[in-house]
Amino acid sequence: MATSDPSSSNTAQDPNPTNLRPTTYDTWCGVAHGCTKKIGLKICGFLQRNNSLEDKSRLVSALKERQSTRNLLACENSEKEGRFQKTETDFSNLYARDLLPAKNGEEQTLQFLLEVVEILLTYVKKTFDRSTKVLDFHHPHQLLEGMEGFNLELSDNPESLEQILVDCRDTLKYGVRTGHPRFFNQLSTGLDIIGLAGEWLTSTANTNMFTYEIAPVFVLMEQITLRKMREIIGWSNKDGDGIFSPGGAISNMYSIMAARYKYFPEVKTKGMAAVPKLVLFTSEHSHYSIKKAGAALGFGTENVILIKCNERGKIIPADLEAKILDAKQKGYIPLYVTATAGTTVYGAFDPIPEIADICDKYNLWLHVDAAWGGGLLMSRKHRHKLNGIERYIL
Ligand SMILES: Cc1ncc(COP(=O)(O)O)c(C=O)c1O
Repeated sequence: MATSDPSSSNTAQDPNPTNLRPTTYDTWCGVAHGCTKKIGLKICGFLQRNNSLEDKSRLVSALKERQSTRNLLACENSEKEGRFQKTETDFSNLYARDLLPAKNGEEQTLQFLLEVVEILLTYVKKTFDRSTKVLDFHHPHQLLEGMEGFNLELSDNPESLEQILVDCRDTLKYGVRTGHPRFFNQLSTGLDIIGLAGEWLTSTANTNMFTYEIAPVFVLMEQITLRKMREIIGWSNKDGDGIFSPGGAISNMYSIMAARYKYFPEVKTKGMAAVPKLVLFTSEHSHYSIKKAGAALGFGTENVILIKCNERGKIIPADLEAKILDAKQKGYIPLYVTATAGTTVYGAFDPIPEIADICDKYNLWLHVDAAWGGGLLMSRKHRHKLNGIERYIL
């Protein structure tokens, strides 16, 4: 989540640690949906109940506007004879090649996608139904052997659209309903409908983020969303920067690369042979991706040193300091420490301020892995668990 400047002795605290600057429902909600799921939903729920009068009147006029647009669309649609109406279609003789961009593929495409949407909506509806199963469990061999028309084998011949629809249904049927009210997991839970709409939208746009030319709206959206996220957690623009990252593991790897480059920029062109023997430190409860990154980046897993934790799964700062001194004494250069804000198994929050003090003292880069605890920066009640993360903004 945050990376540190190891050479910095900046110990300035967040100028306003409880500054969550509530703005409008929409701004909070947008960020909450994009940033965290469960917490985001809670925040949205809270804000919904607390909309100001001004916000309410704005929402009412938006609703009126939508209704009049709908009337307009209804007229247009009736003129065009129900353009999006489902008709009985035999998909067993239709194949991907019959869909757009195939010549005259519009109608098949429309009918096929309407079927897919129906499958997805049925799934969404069932997901929120407490009386349904969270999982229709089968052993791997049962799924691999194939059952009730369910077959994972990849055919060498094209499958009909009918088969693809069956496969869509079965894929959802035998999977875990992570949005089910009875599905509990500390890392992922809940089906965020706005997030789902966003996924449909981005998949349909099917673009990439190379340049403004290829994705003008998304490129601007990225900058604005990141700026808003920083603002909401109380970091002004000059205090931070951000990127959207595909996940926690790759973010941890980026952080080690950033640290190494900061101290030894020559590594970029000359490789690891040009740098001294470097060691990394992380909690014995940290995510395995730190070790994996150590291996992938050429440090070697033996040079990722594990720090002992107390009975609550938090790093023991004295053990960190002792291991830094030990490594130095053996001729290694301590480079980097990860503190975890929400460990994968216990959900423990390492004592960031104490770890940051040690990093300051020995001039080490501090990274905070806030892959799942980071959302707490949006909570007035729990934000303090990440206190100290702001000390190392570049
Ligand atoms: C603390 C922590 N860091 C990193 C990760 C890896 O995240 P991802 O699976 O998004 O790569 C996890 C995932 O469980 C995690 O709990």
